[in-house]
Amino acid sequence: MRIVLRMGGSVVASPVNTDLMSKYAEMVQTLKRQGHEVAVVVGGGALAREFIGIAKKLGLEEQVQDEVAISVSRLFAQLFLKTIGEIGCEKVVVALDDAGDCLETGKILVMGGLKPGITTDTVAAFLAERIKADLLIKGTDQDGVYNKDPRKHGDAVKLDNLSFDDLTEVFSESKHKAGIHQVIDPEAIKIMKHNRMKLIVVNGFKPENILAAVNGESVGTVVT
Ligand code: UTP
Repeated sequence: MRIVLRMGGSVVASPVNTDLMSKYAEMVQTLKRQGHEVAVVVGGGALAREFIGIAKKLGLEEQVQDEVAISVSRLFAQLFLKTIGEIGCEKVVVALDDAGDCLETGKILVMGGLKPGITTDTVAAFLAERIKADLLIKGTDQDGVYNKDPRKHGDAVKLDNLSFDDLTEVFSESKHKAGIHQVIDPEAIKIMKHNRMKLIVVNGFKPENILAAVNGESVGTVVT
């Protein structure tokens, strides 16, 4: 299978968790051994948000704020690429046009942000579209998608399976609360829906969940 793995910055980089990054490196190696093609999109997490804040305080425009956040995500991507060693492509991929060349060498693709004005979820969706991935997995800080925000509602229920339309509906209810951290960016959902992709949202603090998701075991939330 061709898999895009979205490694949440809020998972591996907020604060930076090197043990977890190493576990991801082992997990990606296992996927490759199992014969899968893997592309990893790494986010910038808290450090990216800190740099956005710094740029804002300096009075720099939004595009520049995004650019520094992208640089941070690419730094984490570089660290991850070096951690996986020779099974990875030579460099962090910074343009979708270079994605095919990297994967054709049989190596693991690693990228961070792509351009201002989007999130790394959207980068993952664009990448999945470009390389015609079979599956996109998002490792997040929750066990999957819930019917309402589980951090605010004790009675929130995790959903095992849903459609992209259902997912949009679940999220539209919480959309207007500023600063809400959504498990996946609605812009990314649009791209995935349009391309009839398959998305699995899992708890990224347990990398074994990602192997389980690839192997078709019941874990997280499956969106189709
Ligand atoms: P994300 O919010 O997508 O990364 O990027 P993350 O930390 O991995 O997210 P989660 O919370 O774990 O899912 C951080 C910020 O970087 C900028 C945006 O401002 C975004 O909110 N960014 C990122 C871009 O402008 N373009 C990109 O291609 C990627």
